[in-house]
Amino acid sequence: MKRDLISITDVRADLLDIIDMAIFLKKKSRLGEVFEPLKNKSLAMIFEKPSTRTRVSFEVAMTQLGGHALYLSPRDMQLGRGETIEDTARVLSRYVDAIVYRAYDNKMVRKLAEHATVPVINALDDREHPCQIVADLMTIMEKKGRFRGLKLAYVGDGNNVANSLLLGSAIVGMDMYLACPDGYEPPVEVVKRAKDIAEETGAEIVITHDPVEAVRDADVVYTDVWVSMGDEAEKERRERDFAPYQVNEDLVKHAKPHYIFMHCLPAHRGYEVTDEVIDSKNSVVFDEAENRLHAQKAILLHLIPH
Ligand code: CP
Ligand code: NVA
Repeated sequence: MKRDLISITDVRADLLDIIDMAIFLKKKSRLGEVFEPLKNKSLAMIFEKPSTRTRVSFEVAMTQLGGHALYLSPRDMQLGRGETIEDTARVLSRYVDAIVYRAYDNKMVRKLAEHATVPVINALDDREHPCQIVADLMTIMEKKGRFRGLKLAYVGDGNNVANSLLLGSAIVGMDMYLACPDGYEPPVEVVKRAKDIAEETGAEIVITHDPVEAVRDADVVYTDVWVSMGDEAEKERRERDFAPYQVNEDLVKHAKPHYIFMHCLPAHRGYEVTDEVIDSKNSVVFDEAENRLHAQKAILLHLIPH
């Protein structure tokens, strides 16, 4: 049976192993070791939306693992002219060993996975961004050495990144407080799922409207853009509503002294985070971005039979 990664919960049982593998692969790569277990394997990558990190890290990951990646834009595919996602899935499965898909709609990713006979990896949709969270958890493990007993504060929009972080934190047993303005909470089903998982792992999941409550004594402070891809029509309203939720020096004073600042990037400096915070010694955003590469490798090795 092929395995997909659509929600971070799809790899719930293996998440800690994938993180360990990513850390191991990073060490190997630092030593300059050649490791090509995916020789002759191909990866199709469909991107409906722009990407810097996800696209480049998957492509470089495939090359370094001995395989090959193809970047596909729906604009240049028959998909953009009305060929169905089902037929696209069937056809691509005859050529490649896995498909990465960044889509506007989670239903499209699920449909592609349902009709593909090879693994499908969600490269961000309106619902989740699971690959990001594998790299984020890897970064937290590297910097803090554990998950249990840590408090992660996410301040901002209850969006795709927030959803995967809630579920991922619950799985690894890390406490997560999410502070957002009224009306920007993550979907109730996601919060419920995260709380159900947290009950089993002993993590605490809290949704609040108070950024200070979230950041108080936090080990990790995380934010993401206020206007995600696809939300551009709401830009003005969002910038108004999120203004009190900016991660700035005043807010991070409430965190632990050795807190780390994280952001999936791209950052909109001066909006969700100030230069002082993102450029501070507490910020690990570029290590986090680098870890996308090592995490993608671990994900590819986990899903592609080799
Ligand atoms: N964090 C992230 O997914 O970045 P890209 O949009 O550049 O891929
Ligand atoms: N929430 C952001 C993440 C970008 C990597 C978006 O969906 O645009």
